[in-house]
Amino acid sequence: MLTHRLKGRFFNGKIMKLPKLYAFNKKLEIDLSLSENPLGCSPKVFRVLKKDIKKIVEYPDPTSSILISTLKKRFRVSKNQILLGTGSESLIDLVCRVLLRSKDEVVLPELTFPLFERAILLARGKPIFVKVKMNFQIDLEGIKARIGKQTRFVILCNPNNPTGKAIDRRRILNFIKEVNPLPVLVDEANIEFGGKSVVSAIKNQNNLLVLRTLSKAFGLAGLRVGVLLGSKPLIEKFKQFIQPFPLNSFAQSAVITALDDEKFIQKTRVLMEKERNFLIDELRKREFMVFNSEANNILVEVNRLFPSATKFVRLLNKNNVSVVNGKSFRGLGDRFIRISPRLRKTNLAFLRVIDKILASVE
Ligand SMILES: Cc1ncc(COP(=O)(O)O)c(C=O)c1O
Repeated sequence: MLTHRLKGRFFNGKIMKLPKLYAFNKKLEIDLSLSENPLGCSPKVFRVLKKDIKKIVEYPDPTSSILISTLKKRFRVSKNQILLGTGSESLIDLVCRVLLRSKDEVVLPELTFPLFERAILLARGKPIFVKVKMNFQIDLEGIKARIGKQTRFVILCNPNNPTGKAIDRRRILNFIKEVNPLPVLVDEANIEFGGKSVVSAIKNQNNLLVLRTLSKAFGLAGLRVGVLLGSKPLIEKFKQFIQPFPLNSFAQSAVITALDDEKFIQKTRVLMEKERNFLIDELRKREFMVFNSEANNILVEVNRLFPSATKFVRLLNKNNVSVVNGKSFRGLGDRFIRISPRLRKTNLAFLRVIDKILASVE
């Protein structure tokens, strides 16, 4: 059953079916939709941005040299193993455009971040979807089995979006070795919240690409900064295709400051775990089926009183609450929503709305 929402686009005169992205949905007053940091960002970032205001009249450093030095130390790689982009979404797009020719295949989990599918299709590639297991874990064996002659790379998302489930680090590393030399892109957008990074394996594994973002735990979604790490030959290849000024001056200095504030990230982790557990418990009390998550997204199957997630989301929207409808994710059907925990005040407001809706349907 294809419940995934598709939208027509013109492409070379033909209509191309692309996934409709939830990023364009409306945010309402009680917003649990996009996974931004509920604490904002490190307060030190605002001070640096104010100080740097004069920089807007000049072109930024095209090589982001100071930021690259910071990242080099942080990830223990050389500078030609790092590529910066305008949000990690631009780097997903870049990897697809550079590695794919018409009808080349990319193997990836069916239930994951929808932008992967979009980028593959826009690069005229063919996504090969592998169903997740019953418990929503990514099926690495299943993915391996689908690798064929036309496969150009594999995408894994750890922890996965929308489930918040992490893949065991050892299992990812074994997988990367087993499929070598096929490139494996591991999107670690939410790794600060849960799971263990494979970034240290870059020095031994030429086929590993790791993607990071400053939009989630670091709270800088508006600055649009993504980081791609990998072997020198792969990164050099991608570098040829980027624009001369991928990061603006503000983004460069803000990221250096944000990366340095480990206390803020620690505070974010503690808050996320507390609010995630709070919401999971409270929703279970209200007979919603909630799947355990290690990260900043929670997948929820709606209470049986509601005929569909769409109906439930409509009721939430009417009460000024926005969440992501599970229909935005391939293969999920119309019974799930994705929520991203917020500060306690917003989470309580969300639960109060649910109680009001439940009282009206019971
Ligand atoms: C798994 C994953 N990868 C990448 C992104 C894109 O992040 P950005 O383009 O803000 O860096 C997101 C954002 O939702 C995500 O969930």
